[in-house]
Amino acid sequence: LAAEAAATIADLTGVAHHDIALTLGSGWGKAADALGETVAVIEADRVPGFHASAVPGHPGTLRSVRMANGKHALIIGARTHFYEGRGVRAVVHGVRTAAATGATVMVLTNGAGGVNPAYKPGQPVLISDHINLTATSPLEGATFVDLTDLYSSRLRDIARDVDPSLHDGVYVQFTGPHYETPAEVRYAGIIGGDIVGMSTALEAIAAREAGMEIIGLSLITNLAAGIQETPLSHAEVIEAGKEAEPRLAALLSEVVARF
Ligand code: 6GU
Repeated sequence: LAAEAAATIADLTGVAHHDIALTLGSGWGKAADALGETVAVIEADRVPGFHASAVPGHPGTLRSVRMANGKHALIIGARTHFYEGRGVRAVVHGVRTAAATGATVMVLTNGAGGVNPAYKPGQPVLISDHINLTATSPLEGATFVDLTDLYSSRLRDIARDVDPSLHDGVYVQFTGPHYETPAEVRYAGIIGGDIVGMSTALEAIAAREAGMEIIGLSLITNLAAGIQETPLSHAEVIEAGKEAEPRLAALLSEVVARF
C-alpha cells in the first residue's frame, strides 16, 4: 500500500522523488510555509491509505515543498493516531509512504505534555529517545530491528547547533485519547520519561525499519496532569501551538536546511 501511495503522490505532485519527509504535529504547521516553495498540495483522502484527519486543528493534506537547497520535502499533514482505532498499520502508513517516495530522513514533530519540571509550555524539546507504552509494535513477524540511536545523534547535533538552548528529552507514547492520570504521569517520570504524548514512537520504529534517519521534536503545549494544577483541554493544546508556531517554523526550517 505504501508503494501505491508513493506512486499516487508522484503522479499528483509531479515530483518523482522526495529527499526528506516531515510529519507536523500541534504547533509545527507553519513550518510547512517556512521550508520553501510549495510545489503541490494534495487532499489526503486522494492518496491510498490516507484519511482526512479526525482531530480538529490538524489539517488533512500532503504537501510537496522545494527547499532553497533544491531538495524536495514531503509534508505529511495527515497523521493517523493510534487512538483512531484504524490499527498500527494505518498509524505508520505515512512514514512507510515517505520512505517509498525516496525520503531518507524522517522528521517527526508533535505537541506533548511536560513531565520534567524544568520544562515550560511553549518550549520545543529535542527527542533523545522514547518509551513505547502502547503495548504494540508496527513490525510484524520476526523483524528484530535495532533501536540504538533511533533518534539520530547526527541530526540531533545539527539541531543543537542551530539552537544551543534546545533541551533533550525522553518521549513516552501513551495510547490516548484521554490524557494521563497524575499517577501515570508520575510513573512516566520515574521510568525515565520527560514528555508524554500520543504519537511518534510507533512512527519512529517504522521509519527505522524502513532504513530512515530520524529526528523528533516536541512542543510542550502544556504540563502533564499533576504537574500542572489546572485541568488539561484540547483547546489549550491547540492555543499553545498557535502561539509558538512562528518560532518553531523558523527553528525547523533552519534545522532541515542543514540535513
Ligand atoms: Cl499531558 N498527554 C498526552 N498523552 N498527550 C499530550 C499531552 C499530555 N499534552 C499534549 N499532548
